[in-house]
Amino acid sequence: MSNLILGIDVGGTGIKGAIIDTVTGELISERVKIPTPPPATPNQVLEVVSQLVEILEYEGSKIGIGFPAVVKDGICCTASNIDKSWIGVDVNKLFSEGLKKDCKVLNDADAAGIAELNFGNIANSQGITILLTLGTGIGSAMFLQDQLIPNTEFGHLKFNGTIAEKYTSNKVRETKDLSYKVWGSRLSEYLSHLEMIFSPSAFILGGGVSKKLHKYEQYLKIDTPIYAATKLNNAGIIGAAKYMSQA
Ligand code: BGC
Repeated sequence: MSNLILGIDVGGTGIKGAIIDTVTGELISERVKIPTPPPATPNQVLEVVSQLVEILEYEGSKIGIGFPAVVKDGICCTASNIDKSWIGVDVNKLFSEGLKKDCKVLNDADAAGIAELNFGNIANSQGITILLTLGTGIGSAMFLQDQLIPNTEFGHLKFNGTIAEKYTSNKVRETKDLSYKVWGSRLSEYLSHLEMIFSPSAFILGGGVSKKLHKYEQYLKIDTPIYAATKLNNAGIIGAAKYMSQA
């Protein structure tokens, strides 16, 4: 049985893929990214994922896919940063039939968490660890030691008169042109709210902006230790492939 599995990360702005060695967590192909098609309907997204399979010349039989929504028992249940027509779709079936490969879909932040659990900062952690992906939205993955509690959706917690991801996602920083000081202070308020509710042992920040933690960590005034995801914005594809390898 091959350890090499294609991991895909469907995001609000781009759809990324790479072939992953699911034993080491390393990328063994280049990482290819194609812009998310507007509108990001099931057929359009399926078309982009099949282009990725072709570009990467992937001949394996299994694909793991991280998806930016609640995915419960293979069914897409929400659609905040993706077309509403996804709601109710059997995503495992759609991708498996469309790509003629065995595909398993999970929430994108849960996928990133699985990467960190197996190859990064969550390994050996005691207590609760919360990973947040700061991108178009805010995704969350919560672990009690090595046990994932899936689909936590902390980016949708009501916060400051709106929901958290509309207050402090990376997209909000970019579109409102917030300085790292202002945005970092917003993020700090949000982390402190999560800290109060869950008393985690650590927060892990993922998404592209986690690479720049040094620019805003001085504004994060909470007691819980904060780390950048070791796999940075590759965590989603690595974790999706790892998830498929264990399915
Ligand atoms: C979605 C989550 C997703 C996150 C990051 C949120 O808007 O509701 O399911 O994990 O964006 O993509």
